[in-house]
Amino acid sequence: MKRRRFMRLTAGAFGLTLGQAALCIPASSDAVARRRILVCSDLHIGHSADDSGNKDGEEWFVDGLADLDASAGRIDYATVLGDIAHTGEASEYNSYLQAREQSGITEWYEIAGNHDYWGENTIDEYRELINSHLTFGFIDGNMLWLMLSDEEHSTGGEIGDATHGWVKSMIAEHKPDKNIIICSHQLVYETVRKSTDHNRYMEPLDNISDILETGAVDLWLSGHQHSMPWTREDRHYDGTTTFLNVASMTHAYDTLESQSFVLEFEQGAPIASARRRVHDKESYAQTLAVPLRVPVDLDGTSRREIIIPS
Ligand SMILES: [Fe+2]
Ligand SMILES: [Fe+2]
Repeated sequence: MKRRRFMRLTAGAFGLTLGQAALCIPASSDAVARRRILVCSDLHIGHSADDSGNKDGEEWFVDGLADLDASAGRIDYATVLGDIAHTGEASEYNSYLQAREQSGITEWYEIAGNHDYWGENTIDEYRELINSHLTFGFIDGNMLWLMLSDEEHSTGGEIGDATHGWVKSMIAEHKPDKNIIICSHQLVYETVRKSTDHNRYMEPLDNISDILETGAVDLWLSGHQHSMPWTREDRHYDGTTTFLNVASMTHAYDTLESQSFVLEFEQGAPIASARRRVHDKESYAQTLAVPLRVPVDLDGTSRREIIIPS
């Protein structure tokens, strides 16, 4: 199998391609002892219909961010797991960027979902306006995040051989001393609720199972599957990896709650927590434990190191 080499970049080198890469942030004492990370998905900006409560995805996103701003305290950074736009138009991404700018959260890490390919069957607008890299990673203390966009214009997910090889190489390098978190748009097959339904999961299945067989993936976050309300079957733990469906912020596709998750990592802790925030109710509905292979070590810094395949 072809393996891709990778290179490391600092904020200055990456800033032109990842808009949020102002990665060296003045650290308070709390900022070096705890991370609070927003994980959200499926904004579908540009979509407004009966199934979204006749609110555009942008409105759900703005309202959800306002709820978090009023309640969650400092958010160190945010991840968005795809379907940012509904039809992939530049105007949808510009609305997203405006809402992001006004959120008060200064670091954002996105991946593309199937709807980000939709309009002209390309990912061009996403790559130009959000991130030219569909696949990348970053290191935060002893956490390695691997961000894997959907790679084809289809409803189901595709994680191709090149990405599979890169993920394997990253895991091999970092497995001994880092917790590994993977983000993808579609679900991992045979994990959470509806993950075996047609077009809900990533293929080829062999690539995904090969990654999991490393025994080194602590947390796998996905979206794509709407149709809620969320239940505990949308979280699955197989003894090594916690799988979590975080969708969605919009009510589109019969999602009955606008939700996101706030992850918390405390210095020295053997587990992380994932708190499900229901924005409609302005409250947390569940707090889930996420076992980690290695106790959290935030390395006394708030600097994130970006890694992109080359
Ligand atoms: Fe979606
Ligand atoms: Fe999707």
